[in-house]
Amino acid sequence: MLKSLLLTPINLAVKPFPAAKARLDAAKIVLKRWVKLRHFISDLLHAKSFMFWSAQDTSYAKLSSELIFQYHKLEKGLCMAGPRRFFGRDPVIATCRLVKRWSGAGLPSNDPVFLGAIETLRAYRDRLAVTPPPPEHATQIWSLLNECLSLAPPTPSLTTPRPYQPSAGTAATFDLLCAQRRSVRAYTTDVVPISLIHEAIATAQLSPSACNRQPWRLHIYRDPQRTKHLLELQNGNAGFGHQLTTLLVVCADSRTFFDATERNEPYVDAGLFVMSLLLALQSRGLASCCLNWCVSPDTDQKGHDRGDIPSNEKIIMYLAVGYADAQAMVPRSPRRNLETVVTLHEQ
Ligand SMILES: Cc1cc2nc3c(=O)[nH]c(=O)nc-3n(C[C@H](O)[C@H](O)[C@H](O)COP(=O)(O)O)c2cc1C
Repeated sequence: MLKSLLLTPINLAVKPFPAAKARLDAAKIVLKRWVKLRHFISDLLHAKSFMFWSAQDTSYAKLSSELIFQYHKLEKGLCMAGPRRFFGRDPVIATCRLVKRWSGAGLPSNDPVFLGAIETLRAYRDRLAVTPPPPEHATQIWSLLNECLSLAPPTPSLTTPRPYQPSAGTAATFDLLCAQRRSVRAYTTDVVPISLIHEAIATAQLSPSACNRQPWRLHIYRDPQRTKHLLELQNGNAGFGHQLTTLLVVCADSRTFFDATERNEPYVDAGLFVMSLLLALQSRGLASCCLNWCVSPDTDQKGHDRGDIPSNEKIIMYLAVGYADAQAMVPRSPRRNLETVVTLHEQ
C-alpha cells in the first residue's frame, strides 16, 4: 500500500523521460535485492537460537549429537592406515565424559548412539594394548574407559571398525536406477503403505553426514486436509499437489550442530539424505518429486505451524511421494555437458 503510494507518482513523473525511467527501474531492482536480503536476518536468529552446544544441556538432541561428534573421531582414528601410534586423548576423554553424562541424565542405555559410543570405546581400549597412552594421561584414560565400559555389556553386532566392502560390478543397476528416477507429477490415488516409506527412509539413513550426526528429520502427512494446507504454502505443486496421498516434509535439526560455523550443514546433509531417499523410493516402485521450500520467513513460520514442526528444525524441502499414474509422462530434463560442469586440475 505504502509502496504503491510512494511509487505511483514517481513512476508517472518519470514516464515521459526514458533515461530517467531506465535509471528508476534499475534502482528498483537493486532495492528489491536488498529487501530480499532481510531473509538472512531470520537465518541469523535461527542459528543464534539453536546452533550451539551448551555444556549444561543434557537433552537427547544435544548429547546424542555431541557424543557422535566425539566418538566418531575415535572410530576414524581406529581405521587409519600406516604406522600405529597413540591417538585420541582429547576425544576419548570427551566421549567418556559424555557417556557418563548420558547415563546420569537417565537417557536410554539401549539407544544406538549410546551403544555405538560404548563399542567404539571398547575397540579403542583394545587398541591401547598395542599403542598405550603416554604415562601422564594413562591413569585418567584407563579409569574413564573402565568406568564407561562397565555401563553396557559387549554388543558383537555393533563392533567397530569393520572391513570396507567394495561395490564394483553394480554400476549397471545403479545407473539404471538413476536414469529411471524422474520427478513425477501425475499420481494415482492409491495410498502408499507406511511401512514402505519407513523402509526407504531406513535405507536413506545410510547417507553420509558431517561427523555422522544425521541431522535430517522427516514429517509424514497423510491426512488430505493437512496435506492441502501445507501444499498451499508451496509454489511448485500446481496441477498435481491435489493428487498426493503422502507428503513428506524434510527438515534438519539445527541442534545437531555445534555452532554457526556449520550453518550450511543442514542443507548439505539433508540434501544428501534426500537423494538417497529418492533412489530408495524409486527402487521400491514409488515415485517422488522434490518440492522447493524457497519461501519468506513468514511462510516458513506458517509451514512450521501447519505441520507441527518444532522451530529447531529447518524445513529443507517438501517431498511428494506416491504411485506414478500408469500414463505418467516426465520431462526429458536434459543434463549439461560434462565439460561444462567439470574442471580438471592436473597440477
Ligand atoms: C530442491 C528441489 C526443489 C524442487 N522443487 C520443485 C517444485 O517445487 N516443483 C516441481 O515440480 N519440481 C521441483 N523439483 C524437481 C526438479 O524440477 C527436477 O528435479 C529437475 O527438473 C530434474 O528433473 P528430474 O528430477 O526429473 O531428473 C525440485 C527439485 C529439487 C532438487
